[in-house]
Amino acid sequence: QRVDLSVLDEVDSTNAEVIRRQAEISPGTIPVCIADCQTAGRGRRGRPWRSPRGENIYISFGLTFPGGFAMLDGLSLVFGVAIAEALEVAGAQDIGLKWPNDLYCSGRKLGGILVELQGELEEGVVRVIVGVGLNVHMTAAPDVDQPWTSLARELEGQDWQRNVLASALVTSVVAAADEFSASGFSPFRERWQGRDIFSGRQLAAKQGEVAGTGRGIDDQGNYLIESTDGVEAVRAGEISLRVA
Ligand code: BTN
Repeated sequence: QRVDLSVLDEVDSTNAEVIRRQAEISPGTIPVCIADCQTAGRGRRGRPWRSPRGENIYISFGLTFPGGFAMLDGLSLVFGVAIAEALEVAGAQDIGLKWPNDLYCSGRKLGGILVELQGELEEGVVRVIVGVGLNVHMTAAPDVDQPWTSLARELEGQDWQRNVLASALVTSVVAAADEFSASGFSPFRERWQGRDIFSGRQLAAKQGEVAGTGRGIDDQGNYLIESTDGVEAVRAGEISLRVA
């Protein structure tokens, strides 16, 4: 796959930039935008994503998938796997995933992924924007309501560079998108599960309506919670899960 990469000094949001650029890019080419800072970085659930200059990685991809919306089960989890694997190749250890797709390291949030569905192009081809924000040298506290860490802290004493990490991310995300188009979610399920930070923990969802033990994900990427009433699947995008 051909990647059309733009590297910007400053942008409102790399997700927004990819949406703007998609219109002018030839079919089959993946627009990728990386910026040194964002003035209106966005997180999940309408939250802002604090994006200071020179410190972190802010990158977005414009991807298309055949098969219509019904084929997108588990898609947002695929990118968590792709990024975790790229970070480990670059030397990070124990990258965990917090359902649906927060990146964790040593029990703290290292980054997040924002997947935005753009709608259907022609027959059944769905357009998706994937944005990744990673704390690299982050010094100011990010806009997250949980403990956080940075790669500089986790990779201390090792030889690494932000540019090399960013290119490893591009390679891994593009390969994962291809693999998902060809084979769906099944090649990713076990890989996701091996990084599940909720597994075996006491969890609550739906304002406490569902409570029980974390049991990983099903074929569609829903999160499974086991209680005395049985196993309940929590849908991605529906609600947030937390440790009880
Ligand atoms: C989260 O809330 O955990 C997801 C955060 C995603 C932030 C990234 S930074 C690059 C891309 N551009 C944005 O505006 N948001 C995503």
